[in-house]
Amino acid sequence: MPHYLKLGETPRKHHLKFPRAAAASFKGEGLHYEHVITTEGFDRAYSMLYHQKPPTRVKRVELVREFAPAPAAPLPLRHHHLKSFQLPRRGDPYTGRVPLMFNADLTCSRCRPATAMAAGYDFYRNGQSDDIIFVWGGGGWLETNFGRLRYRQDDYIVIPRGTIYRLVPDDIAQEDYLILESAHPVRIPARYLHPEGQIRMGAPYSERDFHGPTELVPNEQEGDFAILLKDRARLTKVVMASHPFDVVGWDGYLYPFTFNANDFEPITGTVHLPPPIHQTFEIRGYVVCTFAPRWLDHHPEAVKVPWAHDNTEADEVLFYVRGQFGSRKGVEPGSFTLHPQGIPHGPHPGTTLKSFDAQRTEELAVMFDTQYPLQLTPEALAMDDPDYPLSWLG
Ligand SMILES: [Fe+2]
Repeated sequence: MPHYLKLGETPRKHHLKFPRAAAASFKGEGLHYEHVITTEGFDRAYSMLYHQKPPTRVKRVELVREFAPAPAAPLPLRHHHLKSFQLPRRGDPYTGRVPLMFNADLTCSRCRPATAMAAGYDFYRNGQSDDIIFVWGGGGWLETNFGRLRYRQDDYIVIPRGTIYRLVPDDIAQEDYLILESAHPVRIPARYLHPEGQIRMGAPYSERDFHGPTELVPNEQEGDFAILLKDRARLTKVVMASHPFDVVGWDGYLYPFTFNANDFEPITGTVHLPPPIHQTFEIRGYVVCTFAPRWLDHHPEAVKVPWAHDNTEADEVLFYVRGQFGSRKGVEPGSFTLHPQGIPHGPHPGTTLKSFDAQRTEELAVMFDTQYPLQLTPEALAMDDPDYPLSWLG
């Protein structure tokens, strides 16, 4: 919800008559159909869309299956290093997600799709969660009922719940995602916004770094349009009578957008600054941070790796996108580290002394810190390095 956006045609005020000529395929009532999508009931960010046909014309519904990420067998409290680089390709960007860790606020998955869309489906809609898709590899078009926009490598694609969408990759063989499915809305951190609602000067990004839909071409087709609808642990097939991208215009604060990790302006100091300087998104129950390439602390005696720390009240997960991570040994692109609350972690032996000569880091990593503990799935344990908890012995 970065800022107000308007695309296409809308009436002069909310909820006024917005006439429309009858189409050959659908006579209708001579009006466009207003459709409001809200957050927090009707209290916070919302958008209003204007359809050529009612967005409620369901032809059929079928239960596809019920599923929920299952926790692995009980484990001791310990640090984890998951190597997801070799994950086999499977499914599409929706059914090919491999859940690795979860709690009531989010499910973190990796996804290396084999196809753009499963046979028998045209679109996907997450009815009860926001999707954050970090594009580790690939690029293409994100097509949605709000219009379409380009996505590229290192983009966070934020897709609010209720959006009907499909990813149209340029080359499916390059597509590779980290996906955070959020039970609560994804927001710009409140401390980055001034009371008028604009992103403050001095924040690590501005409105210009957020990219919403750029093209809206209403589609009047009638027929069978199949949406794979997810609501938490259930998948339903919903067949609509009209193309869901029949929107002629919309406006508001709620829409899918991209933010590229390389547009995150790092904040640095003379000595080490704590992780909140990397914060990118705020979600109830967790935060997302971007560790972008940056100059390191520049005091002549600065220790340029973090302290050992007890991350009390947060499970800390890093996904290593690329580059050499200064405080870690043994991690590689595609690695996750999970440092749970309850036990301390810190720089690996040898990395502190090595840091004194470093001036810059080219590392790029996505971090998410959760308020409540995460559970690992059996798929996560299959890529876990059992020796990682002992890697601080030196
Ligand atoms: Fe840490």
